[in-house]
Amino acid sequence: MLKNDLLLRALKGEKTERVPVWMMRQAGRYLPDYLKLKAKYDFFTRVQTPELATQITLQPIDQVGVDAAIIFSDILVIPQAMGMEVLMEEGKGPSLPKVIESQANVDALVTTGVEENLKYVMDALALTKKELNGRVPLIGFAGAPWTLLCYMVEGKGSKTWDKAKQFAYTQPVVAHSLLQKITDITIQYLKAQVKAGADVVQVFDSWAGSLSPADFKMYAQPYLLQIAAALKEDAPVILFPKGTWHALGDLSKSGASGLGIDWCIEPKMARAFTNNSITLQGNFDPAKLLAPIPEIKKAVKEMIDGFGTQRYIANLGHGITPNVPVDHAKAFVDAVKEYGVSE
Ligand code: CP3
Repeated sequence: MLKNDLLLRALKGEKTERVPVWMMRQAGRYLPDYLKLKAKYDFFTRVQTPELATQITLQPIDQVGVDAAIIFSDILVIPQAMGMEVLMEEGKGPSLPKVIESQANVDALVTTGVEENLKYVMDALALTKKELNGRVPLIGFAGAPWTLLCYMVEGKGSKTWDKAKQFAYTQPVVAHSLLQKITDITIQYLKAQVKAGADVVQVFDSWAGSLSPADFKMYAQPYLLQIAAALKEDAPVILFPKGTWHALGDLSKSGASGLGIDWCIEPKMARAFTNNSITLQGNFDPAKLLAPIPEIKKAVKEMIDGFGTQRYIANLGHGITPNVPVDHAKAFVDAVKEYGVSE
C-alpha cells in the first residue's frame, strides 16, 4: 500500500488534497551524494548495478522530498540492448560510434530477449520498490522512438538533429521500419517495468520539438499513440513530447493519463488545447531554479495558479541541470507543498 499516492490520484483524475511534485532528472549531478558515487563508479556501472541504481533513485526522495521516485537509468539502454555500442563520455554526453545508416543496419538490430538483456533494470525496480516501502510511487521510463532514432542515427547529441532528419526525409521507409522496431521493443520493455514494480511509466520524447507539426505527425506521434494504447491497461502513462504544444489536443485523446509540457506554453493555453480533459505535468523552466529563492517561490505560485490544483503534477519543463543548488531544488518542491489545500 502506498502512503503517498498523490501522483497516482492526479493521473487518474481523482481529487488530490495538494499538488504532487517531482522533477525530471531528479536523481543526478546537482546532488553531492550522487557525485560521490559518480567519482567511484562509471555511468553504466551505476546504471547496471541494482544496489547503486536504487541508492541513487532514493537520494532525491530523502533529500529533496519529492512525491515520486524515478528509476535511475537512461533512455539509451534500449539502443544498447538492441546491440549498439553506447559510450558516456565525461563532459561530452553520450556517443554511439556505429550509427544507423541503412535498412541493413536496421535489420541487424536485435529485438528479442529485451527482458533478459535489461534484467538489471527490472532488478533495480524491484529492489527500489522494496526499499521505498510504499513511501511514494515509482516511475519507470523509456525514450520515445523519435528521440531514440535521433541518437541512433546522429551518434551523439545535436542542436539541430539535421542528420536524423535527413535520414527520415531521404529514407522514410527505412526510418519508419526503425521507429516501428523501437516501438515494439519499448512496449515490451515498459510492460516488463510495470511487472517489476513501476507504478507509472513516462515516455521521454525530448527532441520531438525539433520536428515541424507535420513531421511530428509523421515520425513521432503514431509511435507515441501505439505505446500509450499498448500500456494503458498496465499502468498510467505520461507522455512528454517536449516542444509540441501543437500536438497536445491529439495526444490528450491517446489513452495516456498525463502529458508533460515545457515552459514555452502558458498553463492556461495548455489547458485550453487539451480541453481540460487530461492531467498535465510541468512546466517550470529548469533554469529558473537558478533565480533567488523568493523568485522561485513566486514563479511556482504563478504556475499553480495557471494550471489549477487538480489534474496537475508540478514538475520542471525539462531535466534539472547540474548547476542547481540543492536548496533551490528543495525550495521549488516546498513551494508546491506550501501552495495550500485544494478545493
Ligand atoms: O531522474 C533521473 O535522474 C532518472 C535518470 C535519468 C537519466 N537519464 C540519468 C542520466 C533519466 C530519466 C534520463 C533520461 C534521458 N537520458 C533523456 C530524456 C530526458 C531528457 O533530459 O531529455 C535523454 C535525452 C538522455 C540521454 C542522455 N543521458 C544525455 C543527453 C546525457 C548526457 C547529458 C547529461 O545531461 O548528462 C545522459 C547521461 C546521463 N543520464 C546522466 C544522468 C544522471 C549524466 C551522466 C553522469 O552522471 O555520469
